[in-house]
This record gives sequence, C-alpha cells and structure tokens, in this order.
Amino acid sequence: MRSMSKSHRTPRFFTFGGTTKNVINSHPCSRAWVEVDSKAIENNSRVLKKFIGEDCLLMAVVKADGYGHGAETVAKAALLGGADSLGVATLEEGIELRNAGLKCQILILGNLINSEELYSSFCWDLIPTISGIREAIICNNIAEKTDKQFVIHLKIDTGMTRLGCDCNEVKELISKIDYLENISLKGIYSHLAIADKDHRGKTLKNFTQIQLNRFEKVLNDLGERKQSICRHLANSAGALSDSCLHFDMVRVGLSLYGYFPVNDFESDLNLTPALKVKARVTLIRDVEEGIGVGYGHFFKTQRKSKLAVVAIGYADGVSRALSGKISASIDGVLVPQVGAIAMDQMVFDITEKPDVKIGQVLTLLGKDGEVFISPQNWSDLSGSIPWEVLCSFRNRLPRVVT
Ligand SMILES: Cc1ncc(COP(=O)(O)O)c(C=O)c1O
Repeated sequence: MRSMSKSHRTPRFFTFGGTTKNVINSHPCSRAWVEVDSKAIENNSRVLKKFIGEDCLLMAVVKADGYGHGAETVAKAALLGGADSLGVATLEEGIELRNAGLKCQILILGNLINSEELYSSFCWDLIPTISGIREAIICNNIAEKTDKQFVIHLKIDTGMTRLGCDCNEVKELISKIDYLENISLKGIYSHLAIADKDHRGKTLKNFTQIQLNRFEKVLNDLGERKQSICRHLANSAGALSDSCLHFDMVRVGLSLYGYFPVNDFESDLNLTPALKVKARVTLIRDVEEGIGVGYGHFFKTQRKSKLAVVAIGYADGVSRALSGKISASIDGVLVPQVGAIAMDQMVFDITEKPDVKIGQVLTLLGKDGEVFISPQNWSDLSGSIPWEVLCSFRNRLPRVVT
C-alpha cells in the first residue's frame, strides 16, 4: 500500500487521565475501501499511446476525481505512461491538479460561464472550452491586460446536442475569433454521442459516421486555417473503433481505467482494470429457514443459512438498485448478496462457503483470483452504465493506491 486518503492521515488527540494521547485512526482497510492500481493506469496509458501511434496525442480524461480512482493518482500515472495532456470537467478539478504540481496542458471540458471563472482558468494556465463568441470575447478581454495570450479550444456540436457551436456557424465564428488579438485558438473539437453503441463489427456505423462527416466538413471549410489547430473527436469508443476518428488527439477516459465501452467490444488491446472495491465481514450469523433479512425483509432464507454482514452500503456508492442481484468474491469463490442493500451494510449468503471468518475481505468489484466482477456487470443489473458505477464511490471509502 503506498498512500491513502487524507482523512485517514489526520491524527486526532484526546485527553485521558490528565495526559494527551494520540488516537490511532482506524486503518483505511479496516472497513471498506477502493483499491487503485496505479501501475495498471500507467500501463493502460502506454498501451493506448502505442495503439494510436506517434502522430496522435493522448489526452487522459481525469474528471470526476479520475472516474472515482483519484484524479492526482490517475493523472500522474497516465502521464508516466505517455499521456500528453489531461482533461477535466471543472475549474476546480483543474486547479486541484495544478496544486498537485502537474504542469502539462489541462483542458476544461465543461463550459465556464462567467469572467471570474475564465479569469481563474487563465491564471492557473488551464485551457477553457468555448462554444461561442460570448466566451471568446470574455477571454480576449481578460488577456488584454496582460502580455500573454489566452489559449482556448473551440467545441463544435456535431450531434451530441450539448455543448458546442452549431456546425454551420463555425467558419464565421472562427473568422470573428481571429480578430480577437489576445486569444489563441489552439484546438477544435467535438464529442461522439453513440460511438460505444455504433461499434458493432469493424466498420463505423450510422450516427458516428454522420458526426465524422460533419466534423470533416467543418475542417475542410477552414482550409489552411486548421493547420495550426489541434483537432480532436474521439472518446475511448471512438479511439478504439477506427483510426479515422483519431485526428490529432484522442480523449480517453474509460479505457485508461482498463475497461472497454461495451462488453462485446472487439479489441485485442490488453487493458488492465485498475479499481477494486473491497469490504470486510463484520459479523457472521447462523439463521434458521424462513428468516427475513434486512429492511423490508425482501429476502427470506430458503434453508438454514450462514450469513455474513459486510460493512459497505449505498452511502459508499453501491447502489441500492443492486440489492439481491450482485455477488462478491471471497478467496475467488462467488457468494450472493441477499436482502436490501442498506446505507452502511449489506448481507451475503455464505452457506456454501462456511469457512469465512469475521474480518475476512470480500471483493465486490474487480479481480479476485480467477473471478472478475466488472463495472458493466453492475451497470447491467442496475440499469446504469460503467461510467456511473465508477464515479459513484464516495469519499467515505478510502482510496488505497497499490
Ligand atoms: C468531452 C469528453 N471527451 C472524452 C470523454 C471520455 O470518454 P470515455 O470515458 O468514454 O473515454 C468524456 C467523458 O465523458 C468527455 O465528456
């Protein structure tokens, strides 16, 4: 174990019998925790970089606290593995990485709407995404009072219908931006809406092809002007699907963390999942047949059973919608979760594995011996997506970097 979350490092003191004692905080692995394999991230970054080739840059998307893995840990590992830059969603996420000492290019993928935020972005050397002339003018005004240009990336909406300038207005917008002397347009990008679903077989399908066509048309219309601009379109699904989506840079999140966008994604890449969720057994109960377990008694034992109470719940990020649907691995053996997942606890049926002891560790997510429980296993069961599963683990779970 190399590091742990801050709350577990802060010592507490109390006075007892006239002397002050340093209370030893609970160990980060005493209850439940998220284990992050930083070498896996570094390796995934290296694998992805090799895959996209020398002419394409790799942006590691580390927003949402590095998809729940810890942004600083992930950013440093990804850069070690060859990533060229970082992508975050918010100003605060960018500042956090600068405070952690990271000097590389950081693009803010979300929209900063007011001049205070854009001013901070400028001061922290973070690249904002702009979608229109309004933000461009604010950026220009900010940089006007300095001797530095404000570097920006322009987002184009090719079909996500979220952020970005209308495809048909890009040429005009860029000609206006070119009049603004204090900003430097260094990137132009768009975002794929259904590249994960479109990847069936080896050819680009349907809407991704339409988005690609729209993006290419915009670039063609720009003529020579596009030469000095970094063009980027692909997320993980796009980057792994087809090199025609790569352009000058790809922005990868999910694949950096070791997962393919869908289970049947056709790829030979050797990516390693970096995250495990583990929790300890806090009590073992022998109960009779027909006993209701947990809130609502949604589960009743069908036989004399051995149950293990495990110290993790929906307040830690394990969705209650998974109640009675998941299994965890203990020594590489799967045991089913039974009854409603509560805020801080859940129960597993260990009748088939009666040698389990109090304090023993269950792997709820990730690899344990031959068993692998993926975020997609959970998201299929709860009507979610792997991205949401990864981002849902709360700070109450210490992140332990291995
Ligand atoms: C603009 C943008 N680019 C890239 C990504 C990375 O996507 P993925 O995790 O599918 O690789 C995201 C993530 O949502 C994003 O919002």
